[in-house]
Amino acid sequence: MDSQWYQIGYLLSASFFIFGLKMLGHPRTAPRGNQLGALGMLTAVVTVLLETDLVNNPMLIVAGIAIGALIGAWLAVRVEMTGMPELVALFNGFGGAASALVALAEAYAAIESGNIPEGLELHVAWVAIGLSALVGWMTLTGSLVAYAKLKGGFMIFGKWRKTPTWGPSWLNPIKALSVVAAFVLILMTIQTPSDLELVWLLIALSCVIGVILVLPIGGADMPVVVSLLNSLSGIAAAFTGFIISNSVLIIAGSLVGASGLILTFIMCKAMNRRLIDVLFKSFGGTEKESVTRTKVGSDPDEVAMILDGAQKVIIVPGYGMAVSQCQHQVKEFADLLEEKYGTEVKYAIHPVAGRMPGHMNVLLAEANVPYEQLIEMDEINPELPEADAAIVIGANDTCNPVARSGEGPLAGMPIIDADNARSVVIIKRSLSVGYAGVDNDLFYMDKTMMLFGDGKKMMTALNTAIKES
Ligand code: TAP
Repeated sequence: MDSQWYQIGYLLSASFFIFGLKMLGHPRTAPRGNQLGALGMLTAVVTVLLETDLVNNPMLIVAGIAIGALIGAWLAVRVEMTGMPELVALFNGFGGAASALVALAEAYAAIESGNIPEGLELHVAWVAIGLSALVGWMTLTGSLVAYAKLKGGFMIFGKWRKTPTWGPSWLNPIKALSVVAAFVLILMTIQTPSDLELVWLLIALSCVIGVILVLPIGGADMPVVVSLLNSLSGIAAAFTGFIISNSVLIIAGSLVGASGLILTFIMCKAMNRRLIDVLFKSFGGTEKESVTRTKVGSDPDEVAMILDGAQKVIIVPGYGMAVSQCQHQVKEFADLLEEKYGTEVKYAIHPVAGRMPGHMNVLLAEANVPYEQLIEMDEINPELPEADAAIVIGANDTCNPVARSGEGPLAGMPIIDADNARSVVIIKRSLSVGYAGVDNDLFYMDKTMMLFGDGKKMMTALNTAIKES
């Protein structure tokens, strides 16, 4: 086939990626964006198979695709929505490793065949191989540590072992020196391009850098780190694209690299953290505050009475809604209020509510909540003082007023101002702390009613009470 057809295939696939990514920006178009991205990947795979002589070895290709598809499908079916960050962390790691392995294979092939490039070509090829190895292996080990931290620990010989968070301040200069050493190694590989020992040394050092970079980072900062690792896996892929002269890999890698970095900064802003602080000043993995105060719980009938005739109610969903999977009961609750009292119901969406970006949007969309009712934090906060009630369902850190005090792990994090509503109802199982481990003054305010119990059970009981009131 004429080589220009392959270029057209790559162009098509890159266009699918770009438009797919654009469509992911809005919940309404996101499912089609996802499908377009998958189509882009299929187009790229088919084009690569046709262009290279890989089709001469079809069994290997079919076996690879079958094994990969089986593992992917098995993981996708099994994973709980709340376990997505762990899965994403694993995928990032494998993506980085795949890029680094291709780079290593290219270096091996060139050395074994004696076809080592010369001059500028050598510099370009060996710098790309070195950077792909550095970023790829670092992403693999960093992502594995991130996975272990997100899981919290593992059962080892029947005993639960917590994943440690370790990183004294003297480790920071070592991290910086290790990165400098890795760059020196890359330069040395160019001086002696046939010396594979240097490449293995670079791989080992990159693996260590991944571990020492992520190990000190506290639990609350993990989503930022996972997003950064996602970006790095894209950058590794882009470097590999240069090595094998594959334009679509360069484009797709750059897209992942750039979008991952943008998401990293969005999350840093939402948690009021600077990226440099996330990487070099650990917090949040951290001892949880013990709760000493008490509060008498309410019951669903009492809450139904408060809501009788309410004109405006703002629902504040959080991680607990995801755990109890009560989004359908939440939607039923909003419908009941609208039908019975003509209440205006809106949902206050905090950018880091739950455990992954867009977590609440995905769950509420699944329950057919209209997108127009999902209102971003900055837009909903001015409306809270005029709300008859804020109904907080399994949210904690994202509406903890202590964040305004400028102290502790939540210092400066922008929050949903649920405490500004005329009355507050909180549905959770106990007074226990949220992800950042900080007690919440909102629970103890006079205008707050606590409905203690599992989200789904409590929402069902509340809906029944409203129907019967
Ligand atoms: P959290 O502060 O994590 O609090 C969730 C609350 O849900 C807990 O206090 C828990 O209280 C309650 N809960 C758990 N299971 C429940 C159930 N079955 N029924 C009812 N309630 C239940 O939640 P948030 O306000 O959504 O804040 C998110 C936190 O996670 C932030 O600190 C954020 O930085 C962090 N984080 C965010 C992300 C992203 S990107 N979204 C990723 C990782 C971490 P009980 O145990 O008393 O029920």
